[in-house]
Amino acid sequence: MSGADIKTMKLYHQVERVFNELRALGVAGDAPIDVQQLVAFDQYHYLGTEAVDEAVRRLGLTPELNVLEVGSGIGGPSRHLAHRCGCRMAALELQPDLHATAVQLTERCGLSDRVDHLCGNVLDGVSPDEYDAVVSWLTFLHIPQRRELYARCFEALKPGGGMYVEDYFARGEFTPGEQESLARDVFCERVPSMDEYREELSAAGFEALELIDMSEAWTAFVQERWSGFRAQRARNLALHGAEIVDGLDDFYGAIVKLFTAGNLGGIRLIASKPG
Ligand SMILES: C[S@@+](CC[C@H](N)C(=O)[O-])C[C@H]1O[C@@H](n2cnc3c(N)ncnc32)[C@H](O)[C@@H]1O
Repeated sequence: MSGADIKTMKLYHQVERVFNELRALGVAGDAPIDVQQLVAFDQYHYLGTEAVDEAVRRLGLTPELNVLEVGSGIGGPSRHLAHRCGCRMAALELQPDLHATAVQLTERCGLSDRVDHLCGNVLDGVSPDEYDAVVSWLTFLHIPQRRELYARCFEALKPGGGMYVEDYFARGEFTPGEQESLARDVFCERVPSMDEYREELSAAGFEALELIDMSEAWTAFVQERWSGFRAQRARNLALHGAEIVDGLDDFYGAIVKLFTAGNLGGIRLIASKPG
């Protein structure tokens, strides 16, 4: 997979749009940014920083820990973790334009000493036994090679380390139309069932698995996200222009359709590498 293939997904078009939002808040040019102001625009997953705070609680993250975020987007979760906990983040992102935007935002937030941005594919390897925790939000869905992915995450962890992931799971059998939408709109080729998660993570060596069904809360979230975006259409058009607004509208709508049909679900999973 390359950074170019994944651009079928409209969430990843013109990610510099975050700078339009900052300008609208009166934060100009290369002025410093308050990380708390940014969180409304830099979290590319569901339930915003609440979902990131949940990782802090579940993994017991503290300032002295080294944490790897797999698929860090424009850096939202990693900056929030570094700011909130003081932990040292390695934020690994596949797409060079998202990575470059993330680096800029982190510098302007004054967090470059706590967040290292790395541009690359997690499947190409990560430093072994380096991290106390691995975290990831809505990234595994882009990676059908789950065996390799779980092996890389397992290797990255120190013995006794923990992993926290939020992603998609299959609640039912997808229709051909849903499969097509997942592939085109979400760049997602394979969605495992809960049982498959359990089997595949155990086979990779993880233990103490906890798998939580988030489908209800995520369905409500994506519905509100789409209706809120549509209600602000005039404001968004003036700020971002039609290409960005229509692309995001299509994307948010496609996600609502997938969740409300009932076959796509959300999973929060916690797992450990044996000590
Ligand atoms: C939905 S975004 C979530 C970003 C971030 N976790 C957040 O919640 O704001 C998923 C990200 O994973 C990245 N990604 C996908 N496959 C990857 C891979 N194989 N290695 C590293 N990053 C990857 C994508 O480029 C995208 O930025």
